[in-house]
Amino acid sequence: MIQLIRGFKDILPGEIEVWQYIEQVATALFADYGFSEIRVPIMERTELFARSIGENTDIVEKEMYTFADRKGDLITLRPEATAAIVRSYIQHKMQTSDPVRKFYTIGPMFRRERPQKGRYRQFYQIDAEGFGIASPLIDAQMITMLVDLLARLEVADTQAHINSLGCPACRPGYTAALVAFLDDRTDVLCEDCRRRKTSNPLRVIDCKVPGCREAVADAPAFLDHLCADCADHFQAVRDGLDSTGTAYVIDRRLVRGLDYYTRTTYEIQTGRLGAQSAVAGGGRYDGLVKALGGPDMPATGFAVGFDRLAEIVGVSADALQRRPAVFIAALGATAQKRAFEWTTALARRGIIAEMDMADRSLKSQMKRADRLGARWVVMVGDDDLAAGEAPVRDMTTKEQIPMPLAELVEQMVGRAGAGK
Ligand code: HAM
Repeated sequence: MIQLIRGFKDILPGEIEVWQYIEQVATALFADYGFSEIRVPIMERTELFARSIGENTDIVEKEMYTFADRKGDLITLRPEATAAIVRSYIQHKMQTSDPVRKFYTIGPMFRRERPQKGRYRQFYQIDAEGFGIASPLIDAQMITMLVDLLARLEVADTQAHINSLGCPACRPGYTAALVAFLDDRTDVLCEDCRRRKTSNPLRVIDCKVPGCREAVADAPAFLDHLCADCADHFQAVRDGLDSTGTAYVIDRRLVRGLDYYTRTTYEIQTGRLGAQSAVAGGGRYDGLVKALGGPDMPATGFAVGFDRLAEIVGVSADALQRRPAVFIAALGATAQKRAFEWTTALARRGIIAEMDMADRSLKSQMKRADRLGARWVVMVGDDDLAAGEAPVRDMTTKEQIPMPLAELVEQMVGRAGAGK
């Protein structure tokens, strides 16, 4: 038997209801905050991701699904959505009509990481991006929106962590201080970090190897090296969050796995997902639009790990599942034809009605009705058709009453509507 690829998964009925619910809540929330949906392709030129996420990141170095298409062009399955949305913003010259754009997108991303709980090779993100606003208010708004999303979904035990990663003016000063600190500890760093120390020193702070974690425990923090503008910006983000009553902690160790960030960065963390503590992450990326050939345009955004969110959301698929209101247990060819007409008429009125399309016995049809969780079962045979009346069983009370068949559709619409 052919199995699915390692790190990939099916999302089946029984689980998908939670996904649909999250998507509905997220979509409504984005609309409330004035974000419009955008859909970008799942594949882009490799160069787009390499240049935006950064050549020396784990994602670009080891995790991208990259292949040459039949013409030899290098194509990558998107590991994230931000780069593609920036590409779209630039390509459609969106800044010319209105530089301020707020987008969201929901869809699959691909990273060839080591699969484990909460970490998949195809995973889904709920992503939001805001362009053209330099003000710290948009950072505060996006963090608030993210925290509101978790609140609307009744997700408990999460915390917003915020930090600042400065700007091109203060980054060299911080990097120099960090490299000087790491220089004294080279011998305890892992092989990757020795390399990163020169190629991408910020990544060393994020290394999961215990020796490196220990070594950087008291590394200098960016917050102590921010230039005056970045420090003011960060303070204003905090003020904005305080004014909306959004709780957060300052996390001086927070760095992100992608290189494009400037100033505000944040993650939503939880203790409920084992080693994968980040439910969402994001921040400002003021240099990216320009770096990819667009105008000099500030931008900021976040992505929620949909799979992780689905695991901790406070609602069960069972509670969300829509069950048939009525099951029509038809016996005989004529009754089956009528049942087909009734189920169609009911579906057209928004009422789920099921029937058996084979010639199964009443007993097996009743069993199936029960398994499907139908609220009522109408039992119709040729005699009932002739009499113009058939018994309806209430599957909860087990009560059985006769129903005039001419009124079946209206009666069921009435009952199911009342019970909705
Ligand atoms: P990221 O931190 O790489 O940021 O990913 C965001 C979230 O996606 C993570 O917090 C996590 O919940 C989820 N995630 C990442 N990798 C996996 C995986 N292998 N399996 C399951 N879930 C995963 C970004 O992708 C940025 N583009 C966010 C952003 C938008 N920044 C600015 N705008």
